[in-house]
Amino acid sequence: MKVLILPDEQAAMQRAADIVARTVTATPDAVLGLATGGTMLPLYEALAQRHREDGLSFTKTTSFNLDEYIGLAPDHPCSYHSYMQEAFFRHVDIDPARAHLPKGDAPDPQAASLEYEALIAAAGGIDLQLLGIGQNGHIGFNEPTASLGSRTRVKTLTTSTRRANQRYFASFEDTPRYAITMGVATILASRACVLLATGDAKADAVMRMVEGPLSAACPASALQLHASATVILDKAAAGALTFTDYYENVHPGGRDSAFD
Ligand code: GLP
Repeated sequence: MKVLILPDEQAAMQRAADIVARTVTATPDAVLGLATGGTMLPLYEALAQRHREDGLSFTKTTSFNLDEYIGLAPDHPCSYHSYMQEAFFRHVDIDPARAHLPKGDAPDPQAASLEYEALIAAAGGIDLQLLGIGQNGHIGFNEPTASLGSRTRVKTLTTSTRRANQRYFASFEDTPRYAITMGVATILASRACVLLATGDAKADAVMRMVEGPLSAACPASALQLHASATVILDKAAAGALTFTDYYENVHPGGRDSAFD
């Protein structure tokens, strides 16, 4: 894992934006894996700004989001379809026909999950997967004890995840219990992945992901098996790491010779 520690949230987010921009510029028809969550909002803003001001184009790009709540129609204001529309898609030139999310309102969510995997395969797999991390170590909605060999499927959300996401809904009871999510093995099959984490609430999960044992108890720790995983942190999210001197020695100031 490459661990890049940036001075603050803004710098971390710009570093992640650099990697997306370089991927899309080098390979305009790249297949991106996209993530939701509060952490990603400033990243999407930065990419939209680069689209407006620097001509960064997504016209040939294909995207697949990690997850979607079950039971929410795409036009539900709390769906991840709506999140992506508002945060990113409507601000850039991506072709809506190539911007995919799991169908949370499908009559048969398990069948929809298998179709989603097939769609990713038909697109040639994911070139660059963006990831956030839950405070409990989840990636996508792969909650603790998720199979590390899992593919896109239905997952039951933990109470802690529902509580963390309750702020977007009217109440805890209104917060969905189930989601369709790419599996851990789906994520590991991406050719490269970038996980962005900011703030001290993520410090413990980040430590378990990077330096903890490889365990389904922390699904993000499966990224230790990924051949090209970059973890981009601000100082707060890096606060519980042990080998910080080493990371800063290898990547001073969060620089990475592959991108600088
Ligand atoms: C959500 C999403 C994840 C995201 C995580 C962190 O539940 N399913 O993909 O990484 O929680 O969200 P946030 O960035 O708001 O902390």
